[in-house]
Formats: sequence, structure tokens, C-alpha cells
Amino acid sequence: MLSVFYRLNEFMVNKVAEYELIVKQITAIISNEPDIIANMANISAILFEQLTDVNWVGFYRVSSDKVNKLEELILGPFQGKVACIRIPFNKGVCGTAASSKKTMRVANVHEFSGHIACDTLSNSEIVIPLIINDQVIAVLDIDSPIFDRFDTDDQVGLENIINVFENIIIQHGVLN
Ligand code: SME
Repeated sequence: MLSVFYRLNEFMVNKVAEYELIVKQITAIISNEPDIIANMANISAILFEQLTDVNWVGFYRVSSDKVNKLEELILGPFQGKVACIRIPFNKGVCGTAASSKKTMRVANVHEFSGHIACDTLSNSEIVIPLIINDQVIAVLDIDSPIFDRFDTDDQVGLENIINVFENIIIQHGVLN
């Protein structure tokens, strides 16, 4: 029993260390680049390559139709299968993360009311909002074919990555 705990603990420590490395890699690649789209593309590529058991990694950007007072998410840079292009705020896991300004961690997407299925392989999902000056400007969406793929270590690691990205956007002072 003790050895099981030891191995579990060892795995968790490694996972935290792995995220620290990914944060360093992403920081090195995006810190001197002001273009948000280019940075989203490279972050998606790095995460898709480095994370295990993920089938979709990408960003949805917030678009505001000020005339009709409509806020929606529009597909941004991603890795994975073709995905739905527009998601209204409040719809699906992404829209819920955008409107609540909170990370959504869904162990079983089939039990999430309103889940938007883009890839039939997806069984669990995590969505992290990217917030600048209290405004959500995008969300990072990651899907997995494994149920309950994302735990609190994943959430903390991915929120750290988004935090680095937010600070770089603020430093460069550009929102494109
Ligand atoms: N499943 C998401 C839609 C985006 S795809 O997973 C790429 C949702 O429910 O918001």
C-alpha cells in the first residue's frame, strides 16, 4: 500500500515538474513576440506535443458585436480535428468558462448539459479563460479521449501558462 502511495506521489511530483518545464519553454518562445495569434499558435503546438492523451488543443477568441450587444467565441489557432467556429457565451464548456471567467474542468463531457461535441473522441475537457483588465479575451480549450484526464495539477499548470501569456500581452500593450 505504501509503495502505491509512493508511486502516486512520485507521479504527481513529476507532473508538476513537467508543467514547470513547459512554462519555461512557452515563456522563452512567446516573451519577445507581441502578436497574440502567433503566440496562441505556438502555445497550442507546444501543449499538443507535450501533453499526453489529448486530442484537441486550441484557443477560441472573444468577438464582440457591439451593435447587437452579442458576445461570442470564434475559433482561433489550434491543433486537432476541424472544430466548430462560433460558440455563444454561456453555451458549451467554452462559453461557460468565458461567461463565468472561471476554469471549467469537466470529467465526463457527455454529462455536461450543453456540451458542444466537435470531436467524437473527446470524453473530458478543460477550459481556461484568458483575462486582461477583467475582460475575457479568449479561452484555452483542451480535450482528451480519457475520462477525467485533467486533475488539479493540470489546472494549476495550465493556469500558470495562461498567466504568463496574460502578462506578456499586458507588457506588449497590444490587443489584436
Ligand atoms: N467542447 C467545446 C467546444 C469546442 S471543441 O471541444 C474544440 C465546448 O463544449 O464548448
